[in-house]
Amino acid sequence: MNKHQAQLDRKRISGGVATDQRHDSAHKHVTGEAVYIDDMPEPAGTLHACLGLSTVAHGDILAMDLSAVRAAPGVVDVLTASDVPGVNDLSPTGLHDEPVLAEGKVHFFGQPVFAVIAETREAARRACRLAKIDYAELPALIDVADAGPDAPLVTKPLTLLRGEVEIALGEAPRRIRGQMRVGGQDHFYLEGQIAFAMPGEDGDVLVHSSTQHPSEVQHMVAHALGVSSHAVTIEVRRMGGGFGGKETQANQFAAIAAIAAKRLKRPVKIRPDRDDDMTATGKRHDFLIDYDVGFDDEGNILAADFAYAARCGFSADLSGPVTDRALFHCDNAYFYPAVRAVSRPLYTNTVSNTAFRGFGGPQGMVGAERIIDEVAFAVGKDPLDIRKLNFYGGPGRDTTPYHQTVEDNVVERIVAELEESAAYARRRREIAAFNKNSPVVKRGLALTPVKFGISFTATHFNQAGALVHVYTDGSVHLNHGGTEMGQGLYVKVAQVVAEEFQIDIDRVKITATTTGKVPNTSATAASSGSDLNGMAAQDAARQIKTRLIDFAADRYEVPTDQIVFLPGRVRVGNQEIAFDDLIHQAYMARVQLSAAGFYKTPKIHWDRDKGQGHPFYYFAYGAACAEVSVDTLTGEYMVERVDILHEVGRSLNPAIDLGQIEGGFIQGMGWLTTEELVWDKKGRLATHAPSTYKIPLASDRPKIFNVALADWAENAEPTVHRSKAVGEPPFMLGMAVLHALSDAVASVAGHRLCPRLDAPATPERVLMAVERVRAGQADA
Ligand code: MTE
Ligand code: MOS
Repeated sequence: MNKHQAQLDRKRISGGVATDQRHDSAHKHVTGEAVYIDDMPEPAGTLHACLGLSTVAHGDILAMDLSAVRAAPGVVDVLTASDVPGVNDLSPTGLHDEPVLAEGKVHFFGQPVFAVIAETREAARRACRLAKIDYAELPALIDVADAGPDAPLVTKPLTLLRGEVEIALGEAPRRIRGQMRVGGQDHFYLEGQIAFAMPGEDGDVLVHSSTQHPSEVQHMVAHALGVSSHAVTIEVRRMGGGFGGKETQANQFAAIAAIAAKRLKRPVKIRPDRDDDMTATGKRHDFLIDYDVGFDDEGNILAADFAYAARCGFSADLSGPVTDRALFHCDNAYFYPAVRAVSRPLYTNTVSNTAFRGFGGPQGMVGAERIIDEVAFAVGKDPLDIRKLNFYGGPGRDTTPYHQTVEDNVVERIVAELEESAAYARRRREIAAFNKNSPVVKRGLALTPVKFGISFTATHFNQAGALVHVYTDGSVHLNHGGTEMGQGLYVKVAQVVAEEFQIDIDRVKITATTTGKVPNTSATAASSGSDLNGMAAQDAARQIKTRLIDFAADRYEVPTDQIVFLPGRVRVGNQEIAFDDLIHQAYMARVQLSAAGFYKTPKIHWDRDKGQGHPFYYFAYGAACAEVSVDTLTGEYMVERVDILHEVGRSLNPAIDLGQIEGGFIQGMGWLTTEELVWDKKGRLATHAPSTYKIPLASDRPKIFNVALADWAENAEPTVHRSKAVGEPPFMLGMAVLHALSDAVASVAGHRLCPRLDAPATPERVLMAVERVRAGQADA
């Protein structure tokens, strides 16, 4: 090989894996050129739908007078339950507990009862208000704190058990019991729920849906229409954010649009306004966590017993798996010698809660971090010391409450490196000195770890498909089952394909997700989008490569091991052929240049009845260190500095991953600080718009924000290029802010009392905690 040749070989393609690639639509997001569903040109005759929502939390529908609605200007049609041609059900569980439109009874304030179809969106919305519905109100359970011992559940609870918990608790030198409330969260995707249905020939329908789960929308629409899946196509180019809120919640809107479109033979669009969206769609589950922890004087945890009660709403939706995942994370990064965790997925007369970034995991972990704080305050040590004392370790200290062994633990290294880079010890001393001299403003510091399990706990979801075409000019068309919601999945998978063929990424066309190209897909969720679809696309590309290699070996009479894909070209024995030329030659020789790829995650299994198995393929790790300042007269606070060290294996795209970490952290911080959902006694969501529901603003970001990827990390499992999932794990880094607030509060009484700060730690709650701690009361 000559020198020039060697240089050429080292030259990399543009846009391969492990390179910073901007989001493929970044420039279009900021200029407004990125097409969201509401930006699509409306065909002539397009109609608009609006949902009529119930105005009681629980009741029988006695009479429904929709005559004024029908007579309103612009109204074309009004749908009720009896107009659903197929099955009036949207339940993703098959429990038939979630009607498209309420039938006879309503179960929460804001439940869709009827739908108006009108010439304009405005006309549909105005007409909705004219309905006269008589309800006989029934008793409603809104808050889980009011649930009696026999309160109904939406699904079977889960129990995780390891060791003799009762005995270990009884024998532990010290023991603390307590309760913690953790609030829910609205997804606040910038693009709200939306569906646009186009009727086709033979009763077929095409729905543009803002969904993370096109295949499920396809099935729901088919059931509601009473047709086969092959009559329904769902397409989604991008979402303006999903965060789990479009895993099942898009079904409702797609079904209504499709039913109306088919019935009226006209395109129908439905886009609820923000208030209706927040009222009528599910959110993160809020939890009431009871804990009982046994420990020794050093702060070693000996036994932990948790009960996680969740407000699930009126139907099961994803509450089973969400409350399961809360239990799966009741350990966070800590080893409990004996442990029991029980879920209590409570039926409530509220909107049915659903997936949200972390999928119950964050709520589970908050319980773990609370007991760490309890132990730390009880033994008078820095909580970080208690964290380090209780981390998972080697054999004997590596089994989770669900009996999976932790094999890839890097939490100690991450925490040690972050402790160093964030100058934790020095700042701890500085803050103590500051607080001594500052009677009103108090500073707080906390460093919290994250260990998050990757995989869907329902084993069969861990599969994916992809479709790759190479056209005769050497350009590539890429499609897979994953959806793009801003997280950068499309560009990552395109990088994988570019890398495989050794062509520049601009040769790879990213195309909209559609049930017509890749079927039977899983939701883009559980952070596994790139793990699953990256592997499926790699499989497709490799099939085509194998055919090309066989072809070239045959044509040029060289052994297959002497055929190498180099940047932009292929070396075949002693000669090099441009990639595009080889493709053309292969086409002329009638080689198939298209392939469907497939992947399923190995190793995982889970027995829910036993509460044992290997539900996660691997874990993702990270840690955050947060410093806050609190005005102890008002409860107002600021986040002064945050340092993050997070681990994504070998990053497919460091730029995208850093964005996910920053965004995830901020969203997690918002959940635990300012985002508060309030239901009144009548079950009305009082916080249904940004006027009353406070997501973090740009000005709420930490004043100093240092975010780093662990550059030494790699996945011990053979995932796509040894990368790790990044979508959800960083969300839980936000816990550092809650604990820093708690630390600042505790300083008003010399850190003698655990402040037991509930989440969200709004300024009001922080102020109440300050006053409680000052008064020497531990309990909320
Ligand atoms: N990032 C953006 N920008 N928008 C989103 O809606 N959703 C999160 C996360 N990051 C989300 C996001 C959630 S809940 C999940 S499960 C993952 O992205 C899904 O995508 P992935 O599996 O490709 O990471
Ligand atoms: Mo994410 S909550 O798994 O959509």
